[in-house]
Amino acid sequence: MILYFSATGNGKYIAEQIAEKTDEKCMSIVDCICEDKYCFSNEKIFGMVVPTYFWRLPRIVAEYLGKLRIENCGYTFFLASYGTTTGEAGSMAKKIMAHNGQNFDAYYSVIMLDTWTPVFDLTNKNRVDKWLSDGKKQLKLVIGNIMSKRKGNFVDRKLYSRKPEL
Ligand SMILES: Cc1cc2nc3c(=O)[nH]c(=O)nc-3n(C[C@H](O)[C@H](O)[C@H](O)COP(=O)(O)O)c2cc1C
Repeated sequence: MILYFSATGNGKYIAEQIAEKTDEKCMSIVDCICEDKYCFSNEKIFGMVVPTYFWRLPRIVAEYLGKLRIENCGYTFFLASYGTTTGEAGSMAKKIMAHNGQNFDAYYSVIMLDTWTPVFDLTNKNRVDKWLSDGKKQLKLVIGNIMSKRKGNFVDRKLYSRKPEL
């Protein structure tokens, strides 16, 4: 089961790609909240794909994570999509999980278009294509790691360099 929260589609795309390659189902966290679904057990893979907002987790995601219970799953992961830097998103997820005596097997990040449009101009097709191709390369590596059930913290905390000439 791959859960996602995605305001503008980046995370939904990531979740669907992972689900397709791992033969899992996807479900939106918003639907989980509407259906009061906070407990997942006996899943072969349980993953969560969410965006970075202001170097942290979106509030809806933090609240959902606080109520989430995962039991007896084969492999679990957290994935933050981001546009420039993940900041504290990964460590915030880890802290919330630890508060409930839980942990994900792996923490990942994937660079996508930065949808904070007051700052980032997404109208230049060349730049957008470059950012997307970097993201797709990262996603391929992440999917490989998920399929081999790699464990650890692989969240990139560097600032993604957006070259002005592109
Ligand atoms: C309000 C807002 C705040 C954001 N803050 C950050 C941030 O702090 N760091 C970052 O790298 N990206 C930030 N982003 C970009 C998103 O994390 C990124 O574009 C993500 O892939 C969006 O995923 P979605 O389309 O699934 O919602 C922000 C986007 C929005 C709309």
